[in-house]
Amino acid sequence: MNATTSTAPARAGTAAAPGEAGSSQPALVVQGLVSGYTPEVDILRGVGLEVRRGEIVTVLGPNGAGKSTLIKTIAGLVPVRSGQVMLDGQSLVGIAAHRMVSRGLAYVPQTNNIFSRMSIEENLQMGACARHDHAGIDEDFARMYELFPRLRERRRQAAGTLSGGERQMVAVARALMSRPTMLMLDEPSAGLSPKLVGVVFAKVREVRGLGVTMLIVEQNAKAALAISDRGYILAQGREQVSGNAQELLSNPEVGELYLGVRRGLS
Ligand SMILES: Nc1ncnc2c1ncn2[C@@H]1O[C@H](COP(=O)(O)OP(=O)(O)O)[C@@H](O)[C@H]1O
Ligand SMILES: [Mg+2]
Repeated sequence: MNATTSTAPARAGTAAAPGEAGSSQPALVVQGLVSGYTPEVDILRGVGLEVRRGEIVTVLGPNGAGKSTLIKTIAGLVPVRSGQVMLDGQSLVGIAAHRMVSRGLAYVPQTNNIFSRMSIEENLQMGACARHDHAGIDEDFARMYELFPRLRERRRQAAGTLSGGERQMVAVARALMSRPTMLMLDEPSAGLSPKLVGVVFAKVREVRGLGVTMLIVEQNAKAALAISDRGYILAQGREQVSGNAQELLSNPEVGELYLGVRRGLS
């Protein structure tokens, strides 16, 4: 059953000026998406969402809602049973996961998202392995080390020896080395201390500044919405509520129903 609060996707915000090339076409469009792991069970049961160019959109929802499945389905790791996924006007349905990079899509899984025995530099190199523009790759190395100075200091160190927050940064930097137009992050704040959560999300904002559009899946509703333009709440394989991030944050009913926030306690 759909919730009645704040259900209309916000249309204002980061939309490009009229007349600007491509302004009307969202970067990512997901419609009626159905997918699952075993033939008899659909996990996603008709999900729809949109991410406009330059936006940060967060998908929230309780454990088991299907957030990771959504990201994995978009990334080609879980087959689409029905529905549509369009990136920059082209369908991604049926495209193998390893080909997504050439479509401009990069994905950072929640766990196992770095090569622990390789150095930071080698991890970043892996991210660029489908590219042949050597000058561009060098430029992107410099850009990543500027964005994450800690990684420059430690670039020869095995990635597995880093702290949780630093590892997350390696994972994001590696994904960015493919020069994606769209980056998807699965729970970038999972397992991090509150202070590090802030650091990681501040970096996410900086990544958007590089011109990357982002779809983030999170359980940490407050921290994620604070840096997002819009949000969707997923429950039982369907999007239940969507709206402007600030509206969602300040809507007590949304907090109570979907985000595990009890009135008067937070
Ligand atoms: N590899 C898998 N095989 C079978 N079922 C899975 C698999 N991964 C997740 N599921 C099931 O899909 C549902 C949604 O899981 P998931 O997408 O991981 O949720 P979330 O990321 O929102 O916590 C859960 O019921 C989970 O048990
Ligand atoms: Mg998950």
